[in-house]
Amino acid sequence: MTVFSQPSLSVYKTLAMSEPKQIVTIDGPAGVGKSTVSRLVAAAIGFLYLDTGAMYRAVGLFLVRKGVELENSAVLTAALSGLELELFFADGERGGNIGIRLNGEDVSEAIRTPAMAMVASRVSALSPVRTLLTAMQRDFGGKGGVVAEGRDTGTVVFPRAAHKFFLDARPEIRAARRVDQLALRGVAADYKEILAMTIERDRNDRERALAPLRPAADAHCLDTSDMSIAQVVGAILEKIQ
Ligand code: DC
Repeated sequence: MTVFSQPSLSVYKTLAMSEPKQIVTIDGPAGVGKSTVSRLVAAAIGFLYLDTGAMYRAVGLFLVRKGVELENSAVLTAALSGLELELFFADGERGGNIGIRLNGEDVSEAIRTPAMAMVASRVSALSPVRTLLTAMQRDFGGKGGVVAEGRDTGTVVFPRAAHKFFLDARPEIRAARRVDQLALRGVAADYKEILAMTIERDRNDRERALAPLRPAADAHCLDTSDMSIAQVVGAILEKIQ
């Protein structure tokens, strides 16, 4: 179980300077299959899995519930001081699903809606949010043995990670994968709506000023459009080992 408290700036700097040899980063756009792939890769090599998207979603839920005025940086920063996130193994062991608690409440399901994905994309462009979550993620990764997944884990959070991957796929394929994923959880979703949201989220995430979605210069880029999950996991494990 990992409780993220508010790390001091000195912790943030020390971790940024350390050598995170035992870190694998897997970044890419919405619906590309990063979570499934990252979980399987982490299980295969006995690493912890850090789902940074879940953290942005949980912060989004927290801010929406509180009705915080996002444009007011001082108000936003004050609100964030009341945030506590905790990642836990939902299936009781490494390699299983990761759950997240927001101030003690299990919000693992509540954050997985298309609406919360859009909220997460919006709040992830805000500087106080990124500063806080980047520090929490470095704190987690400071222990090593982590597969980190998100948008900026190879570029900003762990720039010195030993292995970096960037997954991509055509938007139509990603939207279809997302619809299937939601269906598995019993959430009915309209393909056209999900495709429009995927494209909008891509634009937000790629064009924002802070930590935009892009491959690190030293990342291995994989177009997974015509690959199965097993093939993607296999390709990553081959590079790592
Ligand atoms: O991976 P996801 O769909 O759960 O991510 C939700 C949103 O969170 C995504 O649209 C952008 C943001 N995000 C981010 O800005 N940086 C990350 N490292 C992970 C997610």
